Amino acid sequence: MGKITVTVIKADVGGFVGHSSVHEELLATAREQLAKSPLLVDFHVTHVGDDINLIMTHRQGVDSEEIHKLAWDTFVACTEVAKKLKLYGAGQDLLADAFSGNVKGLGPGIAEMEFFERISEPIIVFAADKTEPGAWNLPLYKMFADPFNTIGLIIDPKMHEGFKFEVLDLLENKKIIFNTPEDLYDLLVFIGAPGRYCVKSVYTKAGEIAATSSTQRLNLMAGRYIGKDDPVLIVRCQSGLPAVGEALEPFARPHLVSGWMRGSHSGPLMPVSVADATPSRFDGPPRVIALGFQLADGKLIGPQDFFADKAYDKAREIALTIADYMRSLGPFEPHRLHLEEMEYTTLPLVLEKLKDRFVKA
Ligand code: F6R
Ligand code: MG
Ligand code: MG
Repeated sequence: MGKITVTVIKADVGGFVGHSSVHEELLATAREQLAKSPLLVDFHVTHVGDDINLIMTHRQGVDSEEIHKLAWDTFVACTEVAKKLKLYGAGQDLLADAFSGNVKGLGPGIAEMEFFERISEPIIVFAADKTEPGAWNLPLYKMFADPFNTIGLIIDPKMHEGFKFEVLDLLENKKIIFNTPEDLYDLLVFIGAPGRYCVKSVYTKAGEIAATSSTQRLNLMAGRYIGKDDPVLIVRCQSGLPAVGEALEPFARPHLVSGWMRGSHSGPLMPVSVADATPSRFDGPPRVIALGFQLADGKLIGPQDFFADKAYDKAREIALTIADYMRSLGPFEPHRLHLEEMEYTTLPLVLEKLKDRFVKA
């Protein structure tokens, strides 16, 4: 059999209630739409916060117009339901009036990879809400380059050579490949600034795809605020790649990400089950889910809802403690993001209003 493609496309086409979750009718509509397609080998529909995630397998390759159109039409159908129920922000991530060839640049987030399915092919689909694509930088670094996280880098001969990181400059639309461990320090110069530089994909040294993320910055694309570009990530695991537990391990110690309330705050990324992927406090804190699947000739055997595991209770406690502390700072940095990073920036308006009151100091 030829290669299989795993495509994950997500969009927020209406929140229930506010920006917290997705109404069951929308998920049902998405499932109905995908079930009708003869192109898909299999699919799984889920959500994290107010984002619908379409996890699809097929043999059309990456950037397939048919698959992207299927996702677009599915979100359009969900938008109709969202409008009927008067859900919040119905259709907000569908930035174009009509589909035109590829979903990239039209609003939805996308991560996809094509590969020959191995004898056994475990994958994890991560999806996050109330944050941005750079949120994957730290966990990807830990999974694929940090021996304190991934012991396989030391003791598995198949991993010992390291990996290649493809990093995008989201502002200048350029990309660069870093080889690890050789370029470790150079890599960190860039990916330590996740608002601008973001890990798009990770490859083995032999060039095999190991992980890929969504990278769209919706706010920049639209030229105005329409929601944080809540990201997704696909990671292949085992047999020369990080073990499932090595891929999950970075989320045991929640890191600070940009997003949360009004896309303008820093807060901990809390690992949760799908059932708990319903941001509430201050519209957060930001959440991440991890769904594991075994591929069987493209069939998605699963999901295994990894963060439902008790082993992540402690991480949630830590996240909530951090959330409390960050909230105590109120409108002050570093809880509030730097001015340039804020999506709802009132600064120009306030500056205009006060311009005559500013005098030379
Ligand atoms: C953040 C997010 C929410 C909204 C907030 C205000 O990504 O989606 O925190 O920014 O609920 O929403 P509006 O401006 O729609 O009232
Ligand atoms: Mg939203
Ligand atoms: Mg969202």
